[in-house]
Amino acid sequence: MTKIIAHRGASKYAPENTRASFELAYQMNVDGIETDVQLSKDGIPVLFHDEKIKRTARKRGYIQEYTYNELKTMDVGSWFGNEYNGEFIMSLEEFLLWIADKPLLLHLELKNNQIDYPHLEILTYNLVERYGLLDRTFFSTFSTRSIQRLNKISTDTNIGWLTNKSRHQLPLFSRSLGANAIHIKYRLLQPKLVQQAKTENMPLRVYTVNKLKHIHLCFQYKCDSIFTDVPDVAKTIYQSYL
Ligand code: G3P
Ligand code: MG
Repeated sequence: MTKIIAHRGASKYAPENTRASFELAYQMNVDGIETDVQLSKDGIPVLFHDEKIKRTARKRGYIQEYTYNELKTMDVGSWFGNEYNGEFIMSLEEFLLWIADKPLLLHLELKNNQIDYPHLEILTYNLVERYGLLDRTFFSTFSTRSIQRLNKISTDTNIGWLTNKSRHQLPLFSRSLGANAIHIKYRLLQPKLVQQAKTENMPLRVYTVNKLKHIHLCFQYKCDSIFTDVPDVAKTIYQSYL
């Protein structure tokens, strides 16, 4: 079973990391949702991809320069289409409340590779634990420091190392960092890596897989999960592999 994870929600069809894109992904019957977590100025985990807010909120500055009260009224829907006017930046807590009663996996990407948020791991982990969602939550990060911090919080956590760089014995290397899964950019997908991951018993998840030929490859190689902006397309293709 390759799991189909909606990348920032069904983000080809609705503005990324908003309730609208999560709802749409849920209606598409995905296995899970991927979203990006950063901290507001006052330390509230919020869902936002870029460090700068310009692209989707159309304002100046960085996420970390605004308080949660300021962020929660920022429109991140209009850039995508006028019909999404009124989609505001969500907190992680709002997302957890939304997902708690739905049979969905959570892929929380800790966005601390460009900006180091020292408390991002513990604040995120504590919230997920408070909502009783740890057993279906997968943390991921490009930051090796963040993997270390997660391991200090708990040795029993799903941690995927995100990488876009090829490397000798990637699964072994990822394990040595403290990760227990590998999240690779689709370009790195090769039979040898698939075999190594299998040998090392490391789940192999692939991002961000939107082109038909790449989606097919992930299913052919029986990857553990794919992150895609077009989960409806991936679901349809997957039918031919069942
Ligand atoms: O988690 C997979 C993917 O989201 C990583 O890249 O930049 O889209 O957050 P990015
Ligand atoms: Mg992400």
